[in-house]
Order: sequence, then C-alpha cells, then structure tokens
Amino acid sequence: MKTILVTGGAGFIGSHLVQALVRKYKDYKILNLDKLTYAGNLQNLSSVEQEGNYDFVKADIVNLSEIQAVFDKYDINGVIHLAAESHVDRSITDPLAFIHTNVVGTANLLLCALRKWQSDNDGFDLFYHVSTDEVYGSLGDTGFFVESTPYDPRSPYSASKASSDHIVRAYQHTYGFPVVISNCSNNYGPLQFPEKLIPLMINNIRHQKTLPVYGDGTNVRDWLWVEDHVSAIDTIYHRGKHGETYNIGGNNEMQNIELVQLLCDVMDEELGREQGSSRKLISFVKDRPGHDKRYAIDSSKIQDELGWSPSLTPEEGFKKTVKWYLENQDWLDNVTSGAYQGYYESMYQDA
Ligand code: NAD
Ligand code: DAU
Repeated sequence: MKTILVTGGAGFIGSHLVQALVRKYKDYKILNLDKLTYAGNLQNLSSVEQEGNYDFVKADIVNLSEIQAVFDKYDINGVIHLAAESHVDRSITDPLAFIHTNVVGTANLLLCALRKWQSDNDGFDLFYHVSTDEVYGSLGDTGFFVESTPYDPRSPYSASKASSDHIVRAYQHTYGFPVVISNCSNNYGPLQFPEKLIPLMINNIRHQKTLPVYGDGTNVRDWLWVEDHVSAIDTIYHRGKHGETYNIGGNNEMQNIELVQLLCDVMDEELGREQGSSRKLISFVKDRPGHDKRYAIDSSKIQDELGWSPSLTPEEGFKKTVKWYLENQDWLDNVTSGAYQGYYESMYQDA
C-alpha cells in the first residue's frame, strides 16, 4: 500500500482533499500531517477518521526533526503539501509566521522528501506544492494569469508562497527531484474558517452584524468551488507532468461588492427575511494595505492537457455554500468559539 502524505489536511482545502482521497483510493494510505493551528480542525475529518487507510500525525513543518521523524516512521511515497498560513490579513499583522511556516516549513519538507527519494529512487513518486494565483501579483481591468506570467507577489502571504514555489522548482532543477506546482484562485465552500470573505459574510449576516467591505468593494477575485480544486489536485497528482505548473481557476470573476450583495440576497431568501434587508448591513471600511486589485486565471492548460474542468456553476456553488453554513450553524459557532481545539487531545496522541 502506497502512502501519500497530505500536509495541512485539517484545514479547509486539505480536509476536503483528505476525505476525497481516503474514499477514492482504498489502495493508498492517506497520512494527514497537521500542526492544528487555529485553522486546523480534526472534526472536519470525522467521517473518515475510522477508515483503515487514514492516519493522522500532529507535527509542525517548521520543526525539521519532527518532520524527519515522520519520514523515518512511515514509508512515504508522495507528498501533497498544503500546510500553510493562508490568510492575507494575518500576514500583514504577523509576517514572520508566514515566512516560518510557508518558506522554512516547505524547505524542511522538501529536504526530508529529497532524502527519501535519494535513498529509494523508485519508492518516491512526487512532491506536489499547492500554491496560489497571488504569486503573480495584481491585474488591471483586462488579462489573465497564465503559467508563464512573471512572479510579482505583493503581500507577505503571497511573497512567502512565491518563495516556496521557487524553492520547489530549484529542487527539480538542481537534483532532478520530481515536483509539480499548481496555482489556484479563491476557493469557497463548506468548512472554510470564517475569517475569509464568504464564511465571514455568511456568519455576520446570520447575526445581523456589520459586513465590512474593504475600500470601495471593486476588487475582483475569481471563485472556485473547493471540491473542484480537490478534483484538480487529484488529477494533477496522478496525471500531471512532473516539473510542470498548472493554473486552476473557476472562470468566475466577481467584484467583492457584487459577491457580498449576492450573499445577502441568498441569505434573505433562505432565512425568510425581507429581500434587501441584509444589504443594509454592508459597510465600506478602510482598505487592506497593498490590496491586490484583480485576479483572473487562465486555466486552459489543465483543461486542455488533463481534461479537468469545474463541475459547478457559481450560482449552484454559492447557494450550496450558504445552505451548508445554515445547516451547520453549530460548526460556525464551534470554530468561532475555538472549542474545537480541545478535540485533538481527546482523540489522538502525538507522533
Ligand atoms: P487553511 O488555513 O484553512 O489550512 C491550513 C492548514 O495548515 C491548517 O490545518 C493548519 O493547522 C495547517 N498548518 C499551518 N501551519 C502549520 C505548520 N507549521 N505545520 C503543520 N501544519 C500547519 O488553508 P487553506 O485555505 O485550506 O489553504 C491550503 C493551501 O492551499 C495553502 O497552502 C494555501 O496557500 C493554498 N491555497 C488556498 C486557496 C484558498 O482560496 N483558500 C487558494 C489557492 C491556494
Ligand atoms: O487567490 C487565492 C487566495 O485567496 C489564497 O491563496 C488565500 O489563501 C485566500 O485567503 C484568498 O485570499 P484573498 O485575500 O483573496 O481572500 P479573502 O477571503 O481574505 O478576501 C477576498 C476579497 O475580499 C479580498 O479582495 C479582500 C476582501 N475582503 C476580505 C475580508 C476578509 C473584504 O472586503 N472584507 C473582508 O472582511
């Protein structure tokens, strides 16, 4: 049985990925490595934690000896690396945490994986770095990021992800180490920590609290249903060409204000509130420093070469998302209170 190490598997995208891989690949062990920061929640994985092909190890990628111990204990055949500090606003107030986790942590994982590959060439298949479209910088009113767009990261978060992308590529170039990178746009869906725009707005609308829209709300993001990102990762891991980069996007650009208004209207409908009432909660607030204006992804490479495409229309995806948060209000209450952080202690021992 081959073992794939998924880092950050207790986070938003990671927990969707782990669930999908555990269910789909009974001949793989899926080993979830996570430090369980504020963003990591093992309760997200309760549906698979009893499966025989799932295992969890609590470890910090910044700690080289902890990571080496994991590689010594398990026969790891591939890595899908998602563990990161992921929130741009936090990177503005605490940039060093992002350098430590995203840059040093990725370098530590790479080193352990390289040693494994060098000692057992046929036994290690691939190091896959899950990255972001933010490494490319910010677009004007037109154009799309393609895989050859020069890097121009502009926040501590995106600079840390760009740095780690470069280190991953350097390993491929220097050692011939098998790597692949994907750069994806904004994900949305169930299980996203309510610091990110969509779950934050849903949570605030629920409580009839102010909806803080940064600047004038005209910044544009491209939104992708999280399970479509997961299917893209699965496709790239198994069929992507080693050494390549793939852009992943939803072809679904929206101004933030349009998106927040849409969420207000869907929530009004779902909650039986008077149409337009939630829009009154919108408040334009001080802009995010260095706020990137527009992201837009050309994902024709993965579509043409690997046959991937998004499965949901944005209308379906946003409705499904709102419904999930409304049906899982205890999940929102739990993560906003931090209560989930005691869950690990009752379930697992350290590696
Ligand atoms: P998230 O913040 O929800 O989850 C991150 C996970 O990493 C958490 O479980 C956390 O506990 C874990 N982690 C953090 N520091 C760690 C450390 N030092 N050691 C071990 N584990 C640690 O993030 P997400 O939104 O699921 O993003 C996952 C990955 O995908 C990130 O690498 C991010 O850059 C990338 N990405 C995210 C998006 C998006 O829209 N969310 C888009 C493109 C790319
Ligand atoms: O593009 C991919 C990136 O998308 C990922 O790499 C990041 O991990 C992920 O966090 C996300 O980054 P953004 O900064 O785009 O996401 P966020 O949800 O923080 O913000 C989306 C947009 O909404 C952005 O233009 C800022 C704005 N915003 C955000 C918040 C939290 C607001 O106007 N108000 C808010 O309260």
